[in-house]
Amino acid sequence: MPKSKIAGIGKYVPERVVTNEELKQYMDTSDEWIQERTGIQERRYAHRTNETTTTMAVEASKIAIQNAGLTPTDIDFIVFATLSPDYYFPGCGVLLQREMGMREIGALDIRNQCSGFVYAISVADQFIKSGMYKNILVVGSEKHSFGLDFSTRGRNVSVIFGDGAGAVVLQATDEPNRGILSTHLHSDGASAEILAMYNPGTHANKWGHYANFADATIGEMFMSHDMIDSAQNFPYMDGPAVFKKAVVKFPEVIMEALQANGLKPSDINMLIPHQANLRISQFVQHQLGLSDQQVYNNIQKYGNTTAASVPIALCEAWEQGKIKEGDLVCLAAFGSGFTWASALLHW
Ligand code: UT7
Repeated sequence: MPKSKIAGIGKYVPERVVTNEELKQYMDTSDEWIQERTGIQERRYAHRTNETTTTMAVEASKIAIQNAGLTPTDIDFIVFATLSPDYYFPGCGVLLQREMGMREIGALDIRNQCSGFVYAISVADQFIKSGMYKNILVVGSEKHSFGLDFSTRGRNVSVIFGDGAGAVVLQATDEPNRGILSTHLHSDGASAEILAMYNPGTHANKWGHYANFADATIGEMFMSHDMIDSAQNFPYMDGPAVFKKAVVKFPEVIMEALQANGLKPSDINMLIPHQANLRISQFVQHQLGLSDQQVYNNIQKYGNTTAASVPIALCEAWEQGKIKEGDLVCLAAFGSGFTWASALLHW
């Protein structure tokens, strides 16, 4: 049975740097609060009209494909993870297929928010192991800056998120000591509403935190003026509750991956945690007894880019020579859903 290796990797972050200081123009916040609670110093925002989730994915994908020594027409399948798609439907996978001039291959969008990229890797790995495909483009891309509440009301969410994209080419390999060892996926919908964007949606306030829409007229449920006027088109997060769960589930899913392969934390050469909050990453590092050299963080520069955070961090760690051939790399993520996941691989 073939295994899957990362044959090429690429990332793209928009040019525009947005500092914590700049955010003070829009809301009541401070550089001190943001850095102390999250570790974030700055993030990138895509160009409002010229850049989208898909165009950023195209840039990251071009690099990943070139890195793999391939051309877009060599790609057999696309798995695209995002929570900020260009359109409500169709998904970004087909837009990427079109923009890159690929063959009429399958394109699948994954909606697992922060753990989207690790889920996407797992899905692609199954297609490769089954022998169905040889080269799969796996992408995580987000344009958060287009859908955040930049008033003080939304400050606990809006200061955290940034834009960017990362991509890998997952390729079939028979090389020994190379490629994905295992992936581990989990969910618990009991707290689905504490980190969510309710609208547009078909819930008609069955589950949401907001006002009752029982009186809405036909056609109003999906997205009404009322919803927009009362800021119900923005993400909602109960930050402290998410934090408490994240610091339990991150170490758990990393240990699950290690134990499944008879390994221990000291065997990890590089842990790439989803960049949710520097404090979460530091807590996980401490729990697992990992050194600073074993964990890569870049939330300080990019904020939380959700599905793009793991591939951007993985790419940057590799570019800086911190990941070498044969290294044991662990990817781990936790977020909205809740969903959480890990992947263990030899680079
Ligand atoms: O990637 C997906 C998964 N997401 C996560 O893992 C996020 C997990 N949660 C977190 O990272 C943290 O909970 C946050 C960074 C979101 C918030 O930090 P916190 O230490 O949990 O703060 P808090 O929400 O408990 O708020 C503390 C105070 C509040 O004021 P009062 O009620 O104490 O007067 C907030 O209103 O900080 C206030 N606050 C702010 N102040 C300045 C909230 N946001 C801001 C802000 N600037 N941006």
